[in-house]
This record gives sequence, structure tokens and C-alpha cells, in this order.
Amino acid sequence: MRILILGSGAREHAIALALGREAVPHELLVAPGNAGIADVARTVPVEPSDPAAVSALALDEAVDLVVVGPEAPLLAGVADAVRERGVPVFGPDRDAARLEGSKAFAKRIMADAGVPTGTATDVLTAADLDAALDAGGAPYVVKADGLAAGKGVLVTSDRAAARAHALTWLEQGPVLVEQFLAGREASLFFVSDGVRAVPLSPAQDFKRLGDGDTGPNTGGMGAFSPLPWLDDAFGDEASFVEHVRIRVAQPVLDRLSAEGTPFVGLLYCGLVVDGAEVRVIEFNARFGDPETQVLLPRLESPLSELLLSAARGTLDAVPAPRFSPDAAVGVVLASAGYPGEPALGRRITGVEDADGLPDVSVVHAATVATEDGLLASGGRVLTVVGTGRTVADARARAYEGVARIRFEGAQWRSDIAERP
Ligand code: GLY
Repeated sequence: MRILILGSGAREHAIALALGREAVPHELLVAPGNAGIADVARTVPVEPSDPAAVSALALDEAVDLVVVGPEAPLLAGVADAVRERGVPVFGPDRDAARLEGSKAFAKRIMADAGVPTGTATDVLTAADLDAALDAGGAPYVVKADGLAAGKGVLVTSDRAAARAHALTWLEQGPVLVEQFLAGREASLFFVSDGVRAVPLSPAQDFKRLGDGDTGPNTGGMGAFSPLPWLDDAFGDEASFVEHVRIRVAQPVLDRLSAEGTPFVGLLYCGLVVDGAEVRVIEFNARFGDPETQVLLPRLESPLSELLLSAARGTLDAVPAPRFSPDAAVGVVLASAGYPGEPALGRRITGVEDADGLPDVSVVHAATVATEDGLLASGGRVLTVVGTGRTVADARARAYEGVARIRFEGAQWRSDIAERP
């Protein structure tokens, strides 16, 4: 197959690596890609959020499938445009992608579909804000309604900080004040053809910058999969997955279909698990980053078949995805200054050394290859992924890889997957 992937992060590199591992070879194009992706695919300098440019590229290159990596192209209507031209696309239309693009929309869909989640108040003014903060009390959960690159959420017991965060985001649009949900976080992804919800394997993402879940929220500083801790309440992974499929994913897909906006693509369910109680904290409309970097190395069945069948509406015709029982742990290396203003242009060394270690793979996000070597070009720069029989083995491999890589000011967490 000839497959066009849109995006330039570690998620898109992980997707390209997974497609590249399949028994039947594919021709991979990535727009625009990064330095690591350029080693496994042809990179094309096309803006991934430009519907006309992406559709023209898909037609010119006669691709069999377009896979949309990040959320911005989805909300810009890229999947709509590609689909209208008759090219199969893995990624929802703009209307269905509002599940990620508007937290208020997602809450409304969950309410209509009877999906368990925390309560939320839409806030448009400072007076609404004060009333909502006082009604809910600490800890406060404040979220920007729209896309915010992981920076729109603040969870704090400090009322003044919650208020200041909300007032900043109110300048750009509505804000939600949500109920705080206690428990452990898990991400579970469902591939959907608009009708069916086909689950992948659970993963856990670490969103705060610092060890012990301290510091500001980020796009994600690490992840691991599978999650042995789910067995405590659910007995096994399959029971948890089936619970979420029935209580969360299928009702949401049914609701979107009933509203005339079927969801074709990846439904990312961000969950809080408290004993056997599971509640939704957020949805995304695409593969998660860094969860994808630890999920796809465990996938043993062909990713291309799954994504193409979803795009064509024929998921009932493919076998359920198969995952290795082995574990994968991913540790993100970020630039100094991230998640604020990242320091750019720092020279990175040791990537080949780390990548050459057994059971270690270095997945690129913000990297560019120059005459001076590999340079960091953004906030999250690399994900170092270790695999092994257990989470502890995989974690040891990942941190061996991290120890080989250097760039000035690099930040990473040292406690990813410490509590499997
Ligand atoms: N891991 C969080 C996200 O992909 O949004």
C-alpha cells in the first residue's frame, strides 16, 4: 500500500515504524515528518493542516490511505477534504473531531450517551468563574474549552492559581470548571469505522513535567503498557477493556452516529480508574502521544489492515488486533524551558548509541538533521522506548537508552512506570 501519514511528532514516527515492520512492505510518505521519520519514509514538505494541499498530495501520489496524526488537521477539516475526494482516510471529520476540539461538546455528548464522567460548569465570565470555583471547592480543575496543546488544564488546590489560569484562557474562549476525579489515569484507544469500537491495549501517560506528578502539565512525559495494576479491580485486561467499550466507547460512537457525525478514526478515552469505577476525563480524536510509542511496539497484527478497514467502514471483516504480552516503557526527553518556551537548536548526541542497544528504540519528535548533526527543534524531542518481558525489564531498558543521550538542558522524568 502507499500510505500518507500527516504529522511530525514521535507519534507519527511510531506509526511509520509500525507500518514499516509489517511482513508486506508499504510505501510510506509523511508530511512533513522529522529527522527520524526521514530514515524510514519519504518526507514531503506539505502543511498537514491545509485541506487543499493535503488532498492534492493524496491524489497526486495516488495514495491508498491517509492517516492523520495530530488533532489540528482534523479540526481544520483535512479528513473531510480527503474523504470528499474519495481517498480512504483514518481520522474523523471536523464535526466528529469536536470531541477533542471542544471539551463542552464532549461533556454534552457524554451526558446524552450516559457515559460516566465528572460534573462540569461552562464559564464565560469572571463572575461565572468565581461562582463555579466556590461551588466545587478544592482541588480545582480548570480546562480551556478548545485545543491548548496540553497547556489548557490546571489541577490545583490554590484557588488564586485556578482563577488566574481560567482568566488567561477566558481571553480566548470558554473555560470549564470540572469536578476533581481521584484515582489512577489510564488511556484506552478504540479504532472505529463509525459504527464499531475495536479496542487496543491500555496504556498510562504521565502528564506532569516533574517526578511524583509535580510541576506543570505537558503533552506527556512518558508512558507504559500494559497496565498490571488494572488487574487489582478487574481481574484481567480484557474485563477492563470490555467494561470501557460497553460503558464509554460504544455509547459515544452511537451518539455521534445518531447526530449525523459518525466518528471514523481513533477514539482516545482518557480515564480515571478508582477501584472498579471508571470515569472519563477527556477524549481525543487521534492516537495519543506518548502512548502510541509504547502501544505499537506491542502490536503483532498489521496496523495497516486495521486503519484501512476503519477508513473503509469494514472493521467487522478484520480479526481483532493482537498484542504481545511483553511490556513497553517510553521516556520523553524534552528541551530546556518546555512546556513554556523550549530552547531550540541544541545539539543531540548518543541517539545511534541508544538505538543500537538491545530492546531499545529511539523515536523522534522535534529533531532536524543538519551539517552540525542532529538538533532539537521543539519541546518534546525524543521518546526512548524500552521493551521487555515485564514492565520493570522494559523500564530498565528505556532508562539505559536515556543515559546514552545528551543535549544541553534536557529534561526527563526518572519515575516513569515505577508503579506498574
Ligand atoms: N497523551 C496525551 C495526549 O496524547 O493528548
